[in-house]
Amino acid sequence: MLLRKLNDPNVEFLDDDEMEVYENNLPEEYKQEPEQEEIPDLVDDSKTSEEKVEKDEKVEKDEKVEKDEKVESKEIGSSEKTFEQKVNEMKEELINDPSNTTSTYLKTKLEYKDGALVTEERGDGVMMQWEDKLMQAASDSLFKSIDDPKDVNIVNIGFGMGIIDTIINSKNPTKHYICEAHPDVLKKMEEDGWFEKPNVVVLKGKWQDTLPDLLNQGVFFDGIYYDTYSEHYEDMLELFDLIVGLLKPTGIFSFFNGLGADRLVVYEVYKKIVDIDLSNYGLEISFTEIKAPETTLEENDGEENSVWKDIKRAYWRCPVYYHPEARFA
Ligand SMILES: C[S@@+](CC[C@H](N)C(=O)[O-])C[C@H]1O[C@@H](n2cnc3c(N)ncnc32)[C@H](O)[C@@H]1O
Repeated sequence: MLLRKLNDPNVEFLDDDEMEVYENNLPEEYKQEPEQEEIPDLVDDSKTSEEKVEKDEKVEKDEKVEKDEKVESKEIGSSEKTFEQKVNEMKEELINDPSNTTSTYLKTKLEYKDGALVTEERGDGVMMQWEDKLMQAASDSLFKSIDDPKDVNIVNIGFGMGIIDTIINSKNPTKHYICEAHPDVLKKMEEDGWFEKPNVVVLKGKWQDTLPDLLNQGVFFDGIYYDTYSEHYEDMLELFDLIVGLLKPTGIFSFFNGLGADRLVVYEVYKKIVDIDLSNYGLEISFTEIKAPETTLEENDGEENSVWKDIKRAYWRCPVYYHPEARFA
């Protein structure tokens, strides 16, 4: 109070007696109670034995919680192990999945059945008849930019049901190479006389093993088509290394564009990615839109004519197919 008024010239200082009179005459509400100073308990020796028991119980409880927490964290540790095991199981599942791992796929029995090529045990669709329109468009692209009509060289990677190879062969190219790796497909090709066709060269084995030889021999192509099974985008990137060496300057490279095609948004993203990656090889890509058959769409899954009726997993779900054509920029 004093300090606050020190700088006020109108302040009158009262001596102690005057102060007492002044305070006694103050109205009741201005009279201040002397402040009670709180003295903290520094030592807990005021506790009754009852309180002590309560405290001991609390300590015991806290210790138990701590112990329980330790046990729980140990259990989390053991559930991490289970998590690890689960990851390993998932990895194993992927390795054993013929649609995901080439080495597994190549050991898996296949059958040609009801307009499709499927894995015998699981019923995975390797190739299906509904793609014939897409194969027609692809074949047209391969013959679009012929360098010399007397030396038309085409290669198709992945025979499957032979849909595109039948179309290619009907156009009578000078040389028609076919890469195929699966023994059951090769057997079917043999049965159907593909090995005897005069202009056909069947390259038995994985393209990774057979195409580099062509590169070394200096074989060049007007058209290269790629449509395999159980391979991934990384494989395609590996293929691009060969494509740039095998394609004639005017040649066209096309592929079955099923990248991420079980979800439209992913399909769109891959369209951009493949564009960027091919441009790194000096290739530019264009896409033609083809309406996909209604029978492939999810809304028709329950219908009798759904193409996925007896197939394990639908690999196509988009309303539009982006048919790709890549050539040197
Ligand atoms: C989807 S099918 C091709 C369908 C074909 N476009 C058609 O018109 O019938 C895929 C084919 O690629 C073959 N294949 C898978 N991986 C391969 C590889 N690394 N090298 C060569 N062929 C492969 C499969 O055995 C299968 O016959």
